[in-house]
Amino acid sequence: MARPVLRTWLCDFLGIEYPIMLAGMGTLTGKICTPPELVAAVSEAGGIGVLGTTSMTPDVLTENIREIRRLTSRPFGVDMLLPERVAKDAMSVRSQARAQIRERYPKHWAFMQSMRKELNLPDAVVGDEKAINVASTQMALAEVCFREKIDLFAAALGAPDWLAPRARAQGMKVLALAGNVRHAVRHRKAGVDFVVATGTEAGGHTGKVATMPLVPQVVDAVSPLPVVAGGGIGDGRQMAAALALGAVGVWVGTAFLVSEESQIGDRAKDLLIAAESGDVDTHTLYTGKSMRGLKNRVTDAWLASGLEAMPLPFQKVMMDDFQLSAHLAGQIEFEANPGGQITGMLKQRKPAAAIVRDMVELANETIGRLDGLRGIAKHS
Ligand SMILES: Cc1cc2nc3c(=O)[nH]c(=O)nc-3n(C[C@H](O)[C@H](O)[C@H](O)COP(=O)(O)O)c2cc1C
Repeated sequence: MARPVLRTWLCDFLGIEYPIMLAGMGTLTGKICTPPELVAAVSEAGGIGVLGTTSMTPDVLTENIREIRRLTSRPFGVDMLLPERVAKDAMSVRSQARAQIRERYPKHWAFMQSMRKELNLPDAVVGDEKAINVASTQMALAEVCFREKIDLFAAALGAPDWLAPRARAQGMKVLALAGNVRHAVRHRKAGVDFVVATGTEAGGHTGKVATMPLVPQVVDAVSPLPVVAGGGIGDGRQMAAALALGAVGVWVGTAFLVSEESQIGDRAKDLLIAAESGDVDTHTLYTGKSMRGLKNRVTDAWLASGLEAMPLPFQKVMMDDFQLSAHLAGQIEFEANPGGQITGMLKQRKPAAAIVRDMVELANETIGRLDGLRGIAKHS
């Protein structure tokens, strides 16, 4: 069967067929958003899979990279938070951080305990063996990427100044995520190969500017550096729009979260599929940073409490415990469930390959439709 063609700079640069990137998404309580199976499936379908590493230890990252290589010989990437924007090493042990929360932030602790009581959730604590994203862990993860010679490094949060030259010397490509023009310009100065501009519609940690105004501003600000668009992109119409805004490709998270291959569990996928765009909102409850995800009774109570998030890593440590409580009680609706505004358009679980194929076909059709609109009127 003939395959549709949709080719941009990104395809030639990364050695892929379609300019579609699976956005790196981290591991949540009991949920693996971008397992090797999904990363490999997107790469096999002609796009490029990107592995999210949040909460991974270096050993787990090594295993994941090797598993992806077993499943595909095509290029893939690894996404991680950079050291400058994570917690100080002194706070790397959960039990110590927990003791400090109780002492220094009694109101936050009381909020969490009162929600557990109200929702009938058991007390649960995440073990000290689960990594907090501290600087030394992140450096160790970066070393794994260098040692395993991955194709593409995606820098989420933070400036990749120290990383880009070393990666380039090793033939590795580097992208960095930006939610505003200032960060995009900083990334250009750091020497990245391209920038991914993600709008506020995005699931997970997100900025304040929407994709439609953000992408062309970033394109203009970092030109001639190429830009990929993310946030609220789930079908071919949005992909065509992203290309029209000047992007060379799309960075897609939430739409792949409900793919057959993601391992967040069928119930979590169904919650996202049932949700409308207005059912996701931003709050700082689960991680301490502004994150978009499904609203629930706990996020409502958090906003009503007027509390401000504790600094890194306290808010996340406390709410990781809470999420484990909800998970053990089978009440997954009270877990973080990050997701973007595209939820309103997601109607069914599909294999990742079908998501890629449908997106390319509809983008092609859309570009053709738009082409039919233009022309020059002849006056007699
Ligand atoms: C469940 C979930 C987890 C995420 N985890 C991460 C992460 O660990 N690192 C990161 O850079 N971005 C993370 N993101 C953001 C995505 O990389 C991406 O920017 C976003 O999903 C794109 O917008 P979309 O969801 O509208 O497609 C996450 C997003 C979601 C939905």
